[in-house]
Amino acid sequence: MERLKKLPKQLLKINPFDGDSKPTRIKLFAPGAGRPSLPILHPWNSDRPIDILETFFWKADAEAGPGKNNRYLDILFADPVLATRDPGIIKAILHATGDKPGQFDRDTAPSSGIARATGRDTLLYSNGPLWRIQRQLAAPSFGKSSLFQPEKFQEFEITFRQTITKRIDALRAHLQKSGERYYRVVFETEVKSVMLEMLVNNFFGAQVAYDEIRDRYVPALERIIARIMKDTAINKVDMPWKWMPAITKDQVQAKSDIADFEKLTDLVLLPRKDSRGLWKQFKSDVPDEKLRSNIRVFLAGALEATTSFATWALAHLARNEDVQEKVYQEVKNIDTYTPDNLGQAKVLNQVLEETLRLTPSLYFLPRRATTNAWVETEDGRKMMIPKGTHILLDVWHANRLEEYWGVANTGYPASIFAPQRWEKLMEKGYVPKNFLHFGFGHGARVCPGKFLGQLEVGLVVGAIVKTFKFRAVNQENPAKAGVSTKPVDGALVDLELR
Ligand code: HEM
Repeated sequence: MERLKKLPKQLLKINPFDGDSKPTRIKLFAPGAGRPSLPILHPWNSDRPIDILETFFWKADAEAGPGKNNRYLDILFADPVLATRDPGIIKAILHATGDKPGQFDRDTAPSSGIARATGRDTLLYSNGPLWRIQRQLAAPSFGKSSLFQPEKFQEFEITFRQTITKRIDALRAHLQKSGERYYRVVFETEVKSVMLEMLVNNFFGAQVAYDEIRDRYVPALERIIARIMKDTAINKVDMPWKWMPAITKDQVQAKSDIADFEKLTDLVLLPRKDSRGLWKQFKSDVPDEKLRSNIRVFLAGALEATTSFATWALAHLARNEDVQEKVYQEVKNIDTYTPDNLGQAKVLNQVLEETLRLTPSLYFLPRRATTNAWVETEDGRKMMIPKGTHILLDVWHANRLEEYWGVANTGYPASIFAPQRWEKLMEKGYVPKNFLHFGFGHGARVCPGKFLGQLEVGLVVGAIVKTFKFRAVNQENPAKAGVSTKPVDGALVDLELR
């Protein structure tokens, strides 16, 4: 009914948005315009989601008004889609997201594939009162006040450090045994196994052998994550994964991957009864069964996000050997990675900030307007977003806007990796919370795993730089994107012992 009411305005192409920051309309089809894709997800562009965002902003740089950074698509009988790469509007929408009446929801449409893989009763997928309950239940266990209390933190730090040291020693042994000066590795592969081991064994207190993590669970999760994107684009009837037939080789593999995912979920729930790892801080008597979906989200989501973040940081350092050397000078004498020690590693922290700015792991944040909602930026610009609008907060392109992140404000072009820009920003007196790259989101739905993730990534990147020098095999560093972004070559480097 609501959609029928909109039809006359849609037919007359009347802009359903209002305010002085109104977006401009784009067409669904634009043959001959040279756009990289259709502006909607479909089976042929599901492996190129950044192209969809690029399509929204095709030739937008030539525009002078608010349409330069705000665009919308309005297809008959559907709700409008707004794409914004305007940092002020992004911040305002994130700020107005939550469970209060009239606030924005996280749009569930782009994560329907994730929900089919993990279950719907999760912190990531839910909205409204259910989200609030999930957040209160799950998030405090890895929040800053819980994880970073000195005695609790020390326990994690030691086990995390032992894990990464073992893996680095294995790489070192390979290199020494080969007798060669250089050893060629894809960092993404190395990092992924370490990240899953940290999550499963150190964080959840399970005891799964490293070889099994690397050879069984990492490949199974990789295939599940790859299937999530395809499933979001294809599975419009919302068929649960468990109903999928097992006829083709692919489907048989999918069934086996799902069984491995279930097994891994069992293994990390097992230490709960002995209060090992994170479970010590988890104060709730909800049955294990109620936690399974969230555990699956944490396993797949945290693995994906931490791997993306660390792999990008290493890929950038591999192309900026002078910065790599500066990080080495900082970390060479750090033996324990306490938040204090890591906090003092200034260049390492700038590298991590710059990594999330230029190559954010989550490249867009989806939102949905629950009502006709007005948002206002800090500099007083306003936009009315009609009820039902699907919103793509295009963090990937917002973080590359020259007028915001470029030479005038930061001293360096927005499109290049320049950790020094953070120094410049500080000199100019910018307060970090006012200059956001949204790498961990913002507002009520900010990432609850931020501190754990930063610790893991800082530790892995710091420990690798401390042991090896590395340089990129390919000078270009393009991105691939699925659930998160990664370098196309997985950060292919030649390693050399220091
Ligand atoms: C270090 C790399 C990580 C990055 C870059 C990252 C990024 C993000 C971002 C941008 C969001 C906000 C999404 C939105 O606003 O729509 C988010 C939410 C979330 N993250 Fe992370 N994350 C990381 C690590 C982790 C870890 C280690 C965990 C869990 C142990 C985790 C669990 C979650 C959950 C459950 C949410 C949803 C929260 C909610 O909706 O209330 N993340 N993450």
